[in-house]
Amino acid sequence: MTGTLVADPSSSLAGRRVHVKVPATSANLGPGFDTLGLALAQYDELDVAVADTAGVQVEVHGVGAGEVPLDESHLVVRSIAHAFARAGVPLPGLSLVAHNTIPHGRGLGSSGAAIVAGVVAAKGLLDGIVEFTSDELLELATELEGHPDNVAPALFGGLTIAWVTPDGPRHKKLIVHRGVSPLVLVPEHEMSTALARSLQPESVPHEDAVFNVSRSALLIAALIQSPELLFQATEDKLHQHYRAGAMPETDRLLRELRSAGHPAVVSGAGPSILVLASDPSERADAVARAEAAADTAWQALPLAVDFLGATVQPA
Ligand code: HSE
Repeated sequence: MTGTLVADPSSSLAGRRVHVKVPATSANLGPGFDTLGLALAQYDELDVAVADTAGVQVEVHGVGAGEVPLDESHLVVRSIAHAFARAGVPLPGLSLVAHNTIPHGRGLGSSGAAIVAGVVAAKGLLDGIVEFTSDELLELATELEGHPDNVAPALFGGLTIAWVTPDGPRHKKLIVHRGVSPLVLVPEHEMSTALARSLQPESVPHEDAVFNVSRSALLIAALIQSPELLFQATEDKLHQHYRAGAMPETDRLLRELRSAGHPAVVSGAGPSILVLASDPSERADAVARAEAAADTAWQALPLAVDFLGATVQPA
């Protein structure tokens, strides 16, 4: 983080206003637990302005309206406050208007998107006063999210590999093969990430670890170069079966899709399913199978890969 000498940052912030756009994400992608993530072209958008008075005013439209808190505990506000604290600049009064489309509690990175929205809003508001590097933005977001696999693609777009070093999280962004057409199947009910994580064992058999190392290495090749390998590359033994009992509808449809040869995985901690389809008929067949499921209703979202990641502009 680098700062520019500004006599009174608080008065330099007066009147500043930014517009932020953040994509949905799908993490894990099968074998890449807590490591791989994909940005998807469905967005939350926010307008954040420095207010004349202290405190925060929050307005939420779309997903989460009437459900999420409208005070300092709103996740975007917490994330802005986290970045200002790291920058050493007192948090000014803020007004925030959110237009959300990313479903909550469905494994599509809504909390990661809110955190990233806050971090990039802070970057935009502090432009010319404090500059954040990409690694610093990823570190701030990961500190709040707990793991980097959703926040990396939300920040940077495309397919991301994220890993943690003693100096903080790092990422590598890759461009997905244009033949890959993601399809997300979203059930009616939610799943808590905390519950899903509580179902993970402390340790796993060595052979399962080797299995996932091979598949996640293969998955990178499949996603950027060889989509015909996606079915084998999306196999997993580290998380999905441990969590299956907590989301039986997801487990049933996932098994059916994979039995039919689809490269289907649980999206993030679930309960949505991500199908990494590579032709339109494959996508149509997966949608038909979801529509025929008797145990819950599935919403089918054919979503392009987002290549930009989060954007912030003066408004
Ligand atoms: N890697 C995370 C998990 C993604 O599966 O628990 C959800 O935050």
